[in-house]
Amino acid sequence: MRELAQRHGTPLYVYSAATLAERFAALRAAFGAAAHICYAVKANPNLTLLARLHRLGAGFDVVSGGELLRLQAAGLPTDGVVFAGVAKQPWEIAAAVAAGILFFNVESPHELPLLAAAAAGGGRPVRVALRLNPGVDAGGHAYISTARTDTKFGIGLPQAGAVVEAIAREPRLELCGYHVHLGSQVRQVEPYRLALDRVCEFVDAAAVRREGITHYDLGGGFGIAYGQGEPLDVAAVAAAVLPTLTARGWRPVLEPGRHLVGDAGILVTAVLGEKRQDHTTFLLVDAAMNDLLRPALYQAEHPIVPVVATPLPPRAVDVVGPVCETGDFLARQRPLPPLPRGELLAVLGAGAYGASMASNYNSRCRPAEVLVDGDRAQLVRRRDTLPQLFQNEVDLHEA
Ligand SMILES: Cc1ncc(COP(=O)(O)O)c(C=O)c1O
Repeated sequence: MRELAQRHGTPLYVYSAATLAERFAALRAAFGAAAHICYAVKANPNLTLLARLHRLGAGFDVVSGGELLRLQAAGLPTDGVVFAGVAKQPWEIAAAVAAGILFFNVESPHELPLLAAAAAGGGRPVRVALRLNPGVDAGGHAYISTARTDTKFGIGLPQAGAVVEAIAREPRLELCGYHVHLGSQVRQVEPYRLALDRVCEFVDAAAVRREGITHYDLGGGFGIAYGQGEPLDVAAVAAAVLPTLTARGWRPVLEPGRHLVGDAGILVTAVLGEKRQDHTTFLLVDAAMNDLLRPALYQAEHPIVPVVATPLPPRAVDVVGPVCETGDFLARQRPLPPLPRGELLAVLGAGAYGASMASNYNSRCRPAEVLVDGDRAQLVRRRDTLPQLFQNEVDLHEA
């Protein structure tokens, strides 16, 4: 790790190809060969990781035209792509129709005329699944809980019947499935079972809701441990939903993001110094909320460990970065030993929603990213350069 940090600098994201492959294999074993596992690109959209996941057998879940373009830029097939998103734009729909994706997850009635127009332009019907909002609270932080009826996601069951009928009336659209995404970092099996039960109840209420249905997309959200408690038991989720899906002839579609890449990544950061203020000891490091937003945004806790173990006794410290926000912390009151300047810390479980949510706030460069595969370490994203941060800004002399 020291060598990688020396070669590429810090903060640095480091990913493990072995963990990625292990996680994918476990999900495949749980859900079987028939399941279509669509990696949620938003979790980490690095092109090399996308190519790796494709080689492992993944399709992809995208939520924007930009994510679709990433797949195309990586030269990956798009016929196994599902496209969700509550506010899809006309150009995104047109691009996905042209790319021949597997289906759209429709979650707002405004999409239907756009989809029909794109289908007319493409000269063939477009396959859609309806994203239902089953009103299930799957726990976790409110910002990542998506299947309660007070969120913007999906179509509530009382309104969904009319949307199914509108799709059935439009000859250029084919209803092929239903989609539910409960939210992220779900640790209980029960919400997956409950959501499927509610969808079945909805579907059984009218023949038009059943015709042509071939897929059930149970979304992603499979929780990981982040050093506390247990990860979601994916085999138990499979056991809870597969008998119903098999009986109905619906192919399972999964959209895991965090579960595949979260534990496959760490963020390596160097100690800059230490300061004591009032009753708090602050360990100052070179990674900040712009590199890893989750602690500031969701009060998320990531395990943090010294890269080289030290015998010195730990004391509680706030691990904070250089960004000018009180909310800029990686951890609060975390037991860590005293560490001299330049010593490295690893923030664990940082592969998902780490690099993908990184920003240039405070005019900071987003970190470099490295993929380790056996004894090979490959740079898969260069660190931003400072001139890149303002290269799109208007010419000062013309403004
Ligand atoms: C529609 C959809 N599918 C899948 C995911 C992936 O979630 P996770 O990374 O928790 O598996 C998300 C995350 O926000 C999502 O919105």
